[in-house]
Amino acid sequence: MMIKTFPKLSVDNFELRLLQKTEAGLVLNFNKKNEEHLKRWDPPKPEGFDTKHYWEEKALLWRKEFLEDQSCRLIIFKEDSMVGSINFTNFERGPFQNARLGYKICSSLEGQGVMSACLRTALDYVFKDLSLHRVEANCIPHNHRSRALLKRLGFVEHGIAKDYLMIDGRWQDHVLTSLVTPFKAKK
Ligand SMILES: CC(C)(COP(=O)(O)OP(=O)(O)OC[C@H]1O[C@@H](n2cnc3c(N)ncnc32)[C@H](O)[C@@H]1OP(=O)(O)O)[C@@H](O)C(=O)NCCC(=O)NCCS
Repeated sequence: MMIKTFPKLSVDNFELRLLQKTEAGLVLNFNKKNEEHLKRWDPPKPEGFDTKHYWEEKALLWRKEFLEDQSCRLIIFKEDSMVGSINFTNFERGPFQNARLGYKICSSLEGQGVMSACLRTALDYVFKDLSLHRVEANCIPHNHRSRALLKRLGFVEHGIAKDYLMIDGRWQDHVLTSLVTPFKAKK
């Protein structure tokens, strides 16, 4: 069986890695600071979302999921703060080798190319090191920033799925997109 090491990726002054239990407070700070910014694009908040305990449990779960080849949830850190996240979830192996992508960046860093750069590095990592073949990302049609970002990275739009996800309190249509690895599969 492959021995997996937790990723530690660098992009300029940013570090991308899994959350540790002791860093739960950093997620609370990020969520609090960005509540208004993220509200329009977020799913309903689960119970306990505003508690440290909730994120401590998530940190442990996400590390377990990574080791079990189910997900790779990267937090973007700048110095000692969380400034964003990039999540690859729902790993499906066999003939599909697919994962689903989600991402967010703090409002103060928007529009500077930070997410583009971090996503390029994270995508390289999941394609090369985790041997994924395809990553799918779905966004609300009028989320222009997210849609432009996906296009810039080479994601191809497949069409609109009606009432696809519960976002900001209602079922919302989404553009379905995907990116297939530019790297040749290892033999
Ligand atoms: C979606 C989201 C991550 C996009 O972040 P972003 O900062 O716009 O994305 P980028 O880092 O790629 O920045 C792109 C912008 O930086 C500019 N830029 C500057 N230097 C750049 C560079 N070297 N490379 C790419 N873009 C650069 C681009 O021109 C672009 O500006 P524009 O949007 O005014 O055209 C962010 O808006 C966000 O967190 N939104 C809330 C959560 C969300 O919607 N998540 C996705 C749900 S599907």
